Amino acid sequence: MAKRDFLSLLDFTSDELKYVVNRAKAFRKMHAAGEVHQPLVGKTGALILQLSSTRTRVAFEAGFAQMGAHAIFLGSADTQIGRGEPIEDLARVLSEMVDIAMIRTLDQEAMERLAEYASIPVINAMSSLLHPCQLLADIQAFEEHRGSIEGKTVTFLGDGYNMCHSYINAAKQWGFNLRIACPDSHQPNTDILASCATAERVLDPREAVEGAHLVVTDVWSSMGHEGQEADRRGTFGPYQVNEALLDLADPEVLFMHCLPAHRGEEVSETLLDDPRSVVFHEAGNRLHTQKALVEFLLLGRQ
Ligand code: CP
Repeated sequence: MAKRDFLSLLDFTSDELKYVVNRAKAFRKMHAAGEVHQPLVGKTGALILQLSSTRTRVAFEAGFAQMGAHAIFLGSADTQIGRGEPIEDLARVLSEMVDIAMIRTLDQEAMERLAEYASIPVINAMSSLLHPCQLLADIQAFEEHRGSIEGKTVTFLGDGYNMCHSYINAAKQWGFNLRIACPDSHQPNTDILASCATAERVLDPREAVEGAHLVVTDVWSSMGHEGQEADRRGTFGPYQVNEALLDLADPEVLFMHCLPAHRGEEVSETLLDDPRSVVFHEAGNRLHTQKALVEFLLLGRQ
C-alpha cells in the first residue's frame, strides 16, 4: 500500500473521509461496550508536539495503547530539531524506526517537508494553517446527534485561522453551507475561502447565526498569538457566542468548540453547559476519529 499523509482534509477523498468518520462512530460504540480492538499490535508512532496539547496528545497516546500499538511523545525539547537537525533528516530517521508520525507545529512548510521526506504516513496534529483532525471529531459529533451534515448550515464565528480554514475544507468535502463571521482584520486565507463555493463571509454575527444548524467558535488568541490577547479581546468582542446569540439559530442547533475554551471571552460563562452544547462529546470523539484515521493510514479499509 502506497503511503498516504493527512496534512489536510483535502488529502482524502470525500468518500474516504466519510469512511473514517463512520469507522470512528463504530469505535465509539465498541469503546463504550468495553470491546477490545487491537489491529496495530507491534506498530509504533512518533508524536512530535512542538506546541502544547491536551486532547490531541491524549487521544493519540490512548488510541495507540487501545489498538495494541505504542506512541512515543516527542516534545519540543525532546528532539534534535531545536539544535539544528534538518526536518528532512528527522523524516528519514523516523521512517527507519516507526510506522507513522504525527506533528503539531506552527511551521506549515516544515510539516510538509517532513511528509515529503518520510516514507511513513504523516498526520497534521494541528498547524498554523489547518486542524484537520479536529474536523473529523466535529463531523462525527454532528452526525451522531443530528444525522448527515450535507446541505446543513454551519456558522463559524471568530478568528479566520486554522479552525476556520479546516471548516472551509470540510464544507467542500461534506457538502454543507458555511457562513463565516469574523473581523476584517482576521479574515480567513483568501485562496482557501475562494476554493469553496459553499462558504461565504457574513458581516453581522447575528445574521450569520440565523437559522444555523451548527454554530462553532475557537479561542480569540491561538497558539502563536501570544502577546496579542488584549488587542484581540477588543477586536473580537462582538463575535462572542452566548445563549442569546444561539437563540437566533435553528431550534435544533448544536454548539461546538475545539477546546480549550476561555469562558467570558469567545463563549459566555455558561454556554458550555447549555443543552445545545456538545463540546465534551466532540472532545471525546478525538479519540475515536484519530484511532480510525491511524488504522486507515496503516491498514486501509477494514
Ligand atoms: N482541540 C485541540 O486540538 O486540543 P489540544 O490543543 O488540547 O490538543
